[in-house]
Amino acid sequence: MTDFGIDITSGYVDNQARRNLYKEIFKVIPFLADQEGDLINLHSARVAILSSKLGTHVLESDWKMLFLAGLFHDVGANGSNIHPVRVRSLSEHSRNPWLKTHTIRAHHSLKRILLFRGAAQAVLEHHEWFDGGGYPLGKTGTNIMLEAQALRLADAFDIAMLYLGSVEAAFDNLKIRKDKEFDGDLLDLFKKIFSEAGAQKYWENPEETIKEVINFYKNYDLRIGEEDIFSLLLLFDLKKKPLRGHTKRVKELAETVCRIANISECEDIIASVFVHEIYTTYEPYLGAFIGSCLRRDILDYFSEVQNAFLGLEEDLWVAEIVRACCSLDQKLSINGEPHDIKSIEQALSEMASTFSADTLLLLEKAASSLKRSFFSKM
Ligand SMILES: [Fe+2]
Ligand SMILES: [Fe+2]
Ligand SMILES: [Fe+2]
Repeated sequence: MTDFGIDITSGYVDNQARRNLYKEIFKVIPFLADQEGDLINLHSARVAILSSKLGTHVLESDWKMLFLAGLFHDVGANGSNIHPVRVRSLSEHSRNPWLKTHTIRAHHSLKRILLFRGAAQAVLEHHEWFDGGGYPLGKTGTNIMLEAQALRLADAFDIAMLYLGSVEAAFDNLKIRKDKEFDGDLLDLFKKIFSEAGAQKYWENPEETIKEVINFYKNYDLRIGEEDIFSLLLLFDLKKKPLRGHTKRVKELAETVCRIANISECEDIIASVFVHEIYTTYEPYLGAFIGSCLRRDILDYFSEVQNAFLGLEEDLWVAEIVRACCSLDQKLSINGEPHDIKSIEQALSEMASTFSADTLLLLEKAASSLKRSFFSKM
């Protein structure tokens, strides 16, 4: 049982290293989901901290649930060509079909995980506006879940801080938006709690932000199963050409390769498979926001994920197998339209210039041992 009173056992693997990896992937996702190039803008971390402070002091809501909702509130935006903090107006959100649906995608994935019961609904509603002008449901006023209103406020405030650079300017900006985007009374309370908490430090010193999230995690013995991780990774499954279930299939394919070739580095390969689609999230942008940090500052806290990334960067054999399995799944699973369905031989021949003959032979054996329909599982 976790401290949330929930037993998460789905897909539980009796392997300590793998269990640690699952926990770390879960914990690192909110950071890496805000990754632009080598910089992490810590937006989700600050939204979690700010909204949960509001939740604790004012809303009589479960602050832990709000913290989790804050950490994962924008995870559905992966795959967008732009990070959501760079899209500042509601009309810009509406013109971007991927962003307009990010709350729904996150909700679908999170609600599959018991830990997110409650938080998934707050995530769904975090772009609802007090006057009914928001999305995706067009809810108004008190019909919007209070926790979602707290997320909206914290979200809007962090973005105002990133662009305007001072607390005063950010609150002036939010004042113009009150009773339209959020409840004016809630804004007054937020302002009070913000100064009581000395919250400015979260932009001035990113280390404070990181530590607060790490401390939050320390209070829980999170038992995260493999299926929970795959539910989260659905949101990262190939960003420009989304392919649901891609990471899960690549993992099964890589395991088959390891079995056939009796590869001793199997666990290293599988760890790298788990993280290969969270390695990068958004394209590099010029110029960093205030309160951001380098990716290595985060990875220092997550040694299993760091090792899995090192496998992709420095171990040529691990990188070759992961990239080859990834590529084969892309070629065999894409679209599913009859004219797009390729044979395994056809797909492998297209990969001949990129991968070694030995790797392709292994892949052929592994893929042939799986049913062709394996690659159409979405
Ligand atoms: Fe959002
Ligand atoms: Fe956000
Ligand atoms: Fe991939």
